Amino acid sequence: MRRPLVAGNWKMNGLRASINALMDGVITGSSGLGSTDIAVCPPFVYLAQVHSQLATSQVALGAQNVSHESPGAFTGEISADMLKDQGCAYVVVGHSERRSLYGESDDLVARKYAVVQKAGMIPILCVGELLEERESNQTEAVVARQLDAVVNMCGIASFAHAVIAYEPVWAIGTGRTATPQQAQDVHAFIRTRLRDLDAKIADGVRILYGGSVKASNAAEIFAKPDVDGGLIGGASLKAEEFLAICKAAAA
Ligand code: 13P
Repeated sequence: MRRPLVAGNWKMNGLRASINALMDGVITGSSGLGSTDIAVCPPFVYLAQVHSQLATSQVALGAQNVSHESPGAFTGEISADMLKDQGCAYVVVGHSERRSLYGESDDLVARKYAVVQKAGMIPILCVGELLEERESNQTEAVVARQLDAVVNMCGIASFAHAVIAYEPVWAIGTGRTATPQQAQDVHAFIRTRLRDLDAKIADGVRILYGGSVKASNAAEIFAKPDVDGGLIGGASLKAEEFLAICKAAAA
């Protein structure tokens, strides 16, 4: 049985005061949700603030990005060791906004995945197709390509210490959610592809759905057998809404 995980990806949102208030709400409301893993991924500059707020709560800390490089002369970059040092347990890699707005290639994403694991954290590997790719029936080919880049570089065994997030790009921030069946179909495709390499690892890896998940649609998406929780954008910025999604995963 896979334990559900709900992770909030705050993206480039929040300031010291609003983050303080958001975390107060999340920490208070999450105390009774022991059967779901919960994580929040603030912007880099607020990791320390959120980490100190988390203290003994069960909510884990994650980062939204990482440099693939080892420490050195890389102005403006943040290394995996630094994130570990700030208390991060998870790091999102390959988010579609990084892939499309910042030109991150499959190869670069795989390298980021590798450095996150090397530093002792869990990568949340995002995969997903563009609208035109779905409309031209390329969803499986795109997701397979993104997944294979990591399998080829890091090996199937690495997925014992990783989370996958399927995020169809057309559903991110658009209010247009994939139907539960559309999500399930791609999640099952991902798991089957991994199962061909190692059944035990495939059955254990958590595959989250992301893309316009809200309190009102979370339960029906999470009810699908291969959906093990969610990666939440906009709805993770409101404590009550985020907690309702966490509750839906626990049910
Ligand atoms: P929204 O939930 O705002 O659609 O964003 C999803 C996402 O990109 C999470 O990483």
